Amino acid sequence: MNFTGQTALVTGASTGIGTVFAERLAEQGAHLILVARSADRLHALADRLRAAHGIRADVVALDLSTPGAGERLVAHVADLGRTVDILINNAGFATHGDVADADPARLQAQIQLNCAAVVDLTTRFLPAMTARGRGAVVNVASTAAFQPVAHMAVYSASKAFVLAFTEALWSETRPTGVKVIAICPGATETPFFEVVGAEEASFGRRRTPEQVVATTLRGLANGCPSIVDGRTNATVATLQRFLPHRAVLGIAERTVRPRA
Ligand SMILES: NC(=O)c1ccc[n+]([C@@H]2O[C@H](COP(=O)([O-])OP(=O)(O)OC[C@H]3O[C@@H](n4cnc5c(N)ncnc54)[C@H](OP(=O)(O)O)[C@@H]3O)[C@@H](O)[C@H]2O)c1
Repeated sequence: MNFTGQTALVTGASTGIGTVFAERLAEQGAHLILVARSADRLHALADRLRAAHGIRADVVALDLSTPGAGERLVAHVADLGRTVDILINNAGFATHGDVADADPARLQAQIQLNCAAVVDLTTRFLPAMTARGRGAVVNVASTAAFQPVAHMAVYSASKAFVLAFTEALWSETRPTGVKVIAICPGATETPFFEVVGAEEASFGRRRTPEQVVATTLRGLANGCPSIVDGRTNATVATLQRFLPHRAVLGIAERTVRPRA
């Protein structure tokens, strides 16, 4: 895709993979709308990218897990006089621990952010893209989407939702000129695991957010419905399809089992 002069809205742009999406797109001449809760970080990023690349960068500080957030974001974008050409649904978080011990509000917020906000923002921004016959929607899923993961039940289910939703959307939008892709990163070196608060949630060698974004842009250029970041992650995702399902559930459980 040619990103020059396009406007990309990136959720979760204040840290990690979202920041790198913003950086790569700005380097290629895209204007940005940066969304997350941390206004200071977003303004610092917007200032840096404006100065480095001469692009326009706006900031919307918003908690996307709250009711009505999507509507407020659309109104804000309209007030800015912007049109969204590329939507990157990247904001997300995980919790670690058993459902029986979990804070119900925290699990609800996870579903709101990881699933409901992805559907809501896609539904709100997609029609204008299809009307123009161009644009892109990038949804950040995870390798956790490929099997249920005990002790991270809601997170893995939320990412399975994102993957299924995105691949269906890819089929729906094929005739429209709008590109849709789900990116499935494995463990990636970002503040994600500080938010999770449990090192056990991380398995395998961590890749970099730069690698994740490069894989995404390659998949987008190739018209893939989804892509796994990293050869090892892709191999594991493929091989486990040939194992008995109970074995897959057991391996996943042992991999992230809370340490005593
Ligand atoms: N890192 C990994 O190993 C990994 C692996 C697979 C998939 N992923 C996925 O990759 C995506 C990005 O994660 P990351 O690794 O870059 O983690 P991260 O550094 O923790 O970034 C998460 C981003 O989401 C934003 N966010 C969190 N809650 C929000 C809310 N309620 N409203 C709006 N924004 C919110 C955070 O900003 P504020 O705190 O400022 O709001 C931050 O910008 C997530 O969807 C994650 O599930 C990560």
